Amino acid sequence: MARPTNVAIIMDGNGRWAVRRGLPRVAGHKKGVQRVREIVRACPDLGVETLTLYAFSTENWKRPVIEVAALMRLFRIYIRMEAAELERNGVCVRFIGERSALEPDIRAMMAGLEERTKDNDLLTLQVALNYGGRDEIVRAARKIAAQVAAGEIAPGDVTEARFAEALDTRCPDPELVIRTSGEHRTSNFLPWQAAYSEYAFVPECWPDFTPDQFGAILDEFGTRERRFGGVEASQGGPA
Ligand code: FPP
Repeated sequence: MARPTNVAIIMDGNGRWAVRRGLPRVAGHKKGVQRVREIVRACPDLGVETLTLYAFSTENWKRPVIEVAALMRLFRIYIRMEAAELERNGVCVRFIGERSALEPDIRAMMAGLEERTKDNDLLTLQVALNYGGRDEIVRAARKIAAQVAAGEIAPGDVTEARFAEALDTRCPDPELVIRTSGEHRTSNFLPWQAAYSEYAFVPECWPDFTPDQFGAILDEFGTRERRFGGVEASQGGPA
């Protein structure tokens, strides 16, 4: 099997990376932003066409106010500093998640970056910001319920394809989801879209995750056999 073209990453371990070095947790997030830059830059050469990054979950608001504020500041800085390069390098940026809880200025910056990069097609970068998979599914269900209530569609018209269209994502489902920092959880990340994804759990914390390691994981994916609930021809399945 070839390397995956649609990849998603749970960028975990920024806090632990910092605390182990006697640094404030925010230092780990800052280093994490540098890794985001490097990994995004590496994608086209690695054959990745869609990268989805879990930047802030609907549960992350439970963190200390000072850490949430620092993360929001880093998102602002990232958008401001990277917009021109992303635009120039053919990256189409889209945000997924529930935007209304975010500060108006961040929402405006997100919309501006989406607009500015919307015609790019070398890499699609989906940034999950205030994203929760269950929240996304509930919001999609509400949209569809409203269409049914308005008589626009019948309950029997609700198919998997129609439901997927009501979700935030506009890209192919990830073939591979990577989680850094040694945790073996999916943490409400793309529960619908990753139903058949392969997972790679790597011990390194996100600030230590390099483009070389990224490439090695993509290569390793190439050795896996994906059956999607079926049976391989070599094991008696249909040729
Ligand atoms: C998880 O580490 C990481 C986050 C909650 C934030 C991820 C954000 C970035 C890498 C910054 C910028 C992102 C973009 C897209 C510009 P953690 O704090 O949960 O680590 P811990 O489990 O060790 O505490």
